[in-house]
Amino acid sequence: MTQEPSLVRLRLSPMTAADLTFVESWLAEPHVARWYLESSTVTREIDQLRGCILGHEPTHAVTVRASDQPIGWCQWYRCDDYPDHAAGVGAQPDDIGIDYALGESAWVGRGVGTALIRTLVDHVRQRDPHAGVIADPNAANVASRRVLEKNRFTLLAERPVASEPTNAPMAIYRLDGQRDQLRRY
Ligand SMILES: CC(C)(COP(=O)(O)OP(=O)(O)OC[C@H]1O[C@@H](n2cnc3c(N)ncnc32)[C@H](O)[C@@H]1OP(=O)(O)O)[C@@H](O)C(=O)NCCC(=O)NCCS
Repeated sequence: MTQEPSLVRLRLSPMTAADLTFVESWLAEPHVARWYLESSTVTREIDQLRGCILGHEPTHAVTVRASDQPIGWCQWYRCDDYPDHAAGVGAQPDDIGIDYALGESAWVGRGVGTALIRTLVDHVRQRDPHAGVIADPNAANVASRRVLEKNRFTLLAERPVASEPTNAPMAIYRLDGQRDQLRRY
């Protein structure tokens, strides 16, 4: 049973191989497939996450739980580890990139995504308190854009990003980090 968003406590933990079964079922959900499989496949997405779990990729894959129930997943990575992508989105040195999805459809559209971005930013900042955080959802993904805007991310640009597997315009958002304040002085 789902709870009111204000009562939900989200927990992020490193993704395990066992969690991939959940991700596979979530990728079949239309609200996820629409964005994740637009220019990819279930096999490619699962292989990429397996690479992260095994440490073959410098991206951190994370499972999202609410009351111990797995409900979605996220990824975060140092943009510097992916120079083409960093250049594509115009990342600053040391910026951290994020991706996120609520897989369980019962949890979508109830404010949990907004809480998830807050939790993910906190998670990243526990590891690097000064980092700027960047995300580039498809510009047509209104829900994804709104959860960033509600967490005070700033829109930098709307345009295609060469490192993304689609030519569709992406909405590039960034949340300033403490390093930006230091750079300004
Ligand atoms: C994107 C996602 C995390 C948003 O989480 P959510 O819990 O659905 O969003 P919330 O309920 O917190 O809503 C946030 C805002 O988006 C709006 N919104 C939610 N779903 C929407 C939809 N389908 N169309 C338009 N706006 C929508 C809400 O109205 C709210 O805005 P408001 O406060 O101005 O009214 C979630 O929908 C999801 O995982 N989708 C599939 C995967 C995905 O798109 N991931 C992002 C890839 S970059």
